[in-house]
Amino acid sequence: MSAARGLWITLEGGDGSGKTTQAALLQDWLSGQGRQVLRTREPGGSEVGVLIRDIVLHHRGDIAPRAEALLYAADRAHHVATVVRPALERGEIVIQDRYLDSSVAYQGAGRILGADEVRDLSLWAAEGALPDVTVLLDLDPAAARHRLDSDDKPFDRLEAEQEDFHARVRAAFLALAEAEPSRFLVVDGARDPQVVAAEVRARIAPLL
Ligand code: TYD
Repeated sequence: MSAARGLWITLEGGDGSGKTTQAALLQDWLSGQGRQVLRTREPGGSEVGVLIRDIVLHHRGDIAPRAEALLYAADRAHHVATVVRPALERGEIVIQDRYLDSSVAYQGAGRILGADEVRDLSLWAAEGALPDVTVLLDLDPAAARHRLDSDDKPFDRLEAEQEDFHARVRAAFLALAEAEPSRFLVVDGARDPQVVAAEVRARIAPLL
């Protein structure tokens, strides 16, 4: 992100791929070194975002694909402007659960919208801001589903989608990573969380 002094790390992957666990491990490691870390997420990383998150995840009934894409983009616009950018300008490390790659994967590949138009919409919303590093936790949707089933939380609107939707989302994430290898670190999310965390730390350490 231009003119910012901090470091911006996003975590991406399907539902149940272990992003939250990895975000927490990364935060512990960085905070343990005395660094100022801001942990945040999309959707829902701001007060306005919490309201938008409730609509996109819990509305009963359909949301038109363009409306859904715009809701995620609105959350993103407000989040980047009021939370992420100020933290980076203060020199902090931002660890963020999901960003625009999720929109491209879920709204672009999963639904009827084109990947490029979804990406352009998000880039417009966030004034072109892109993370320094994006960690993609790659996991077979069947294995991820198994993890989610063993949680007691009810499925949200997107988690409840069919298996082929999640397979398309996975393929879209991998294609994004292939297109931007310098931004992405792809890790195998099926392995022990501590092993995954060590791989993530190895990627981040030289940037500190
Ligand atoms: P997430 O916060 O990871 O869910 P949870 O807290 O249950 O782990 O993500 C919420 C859902 O929103 C997830 O299914 C992916 C979806 N999503 C999109 O479809 N587009 C987006 O741009 C973002 C950020 C998330």
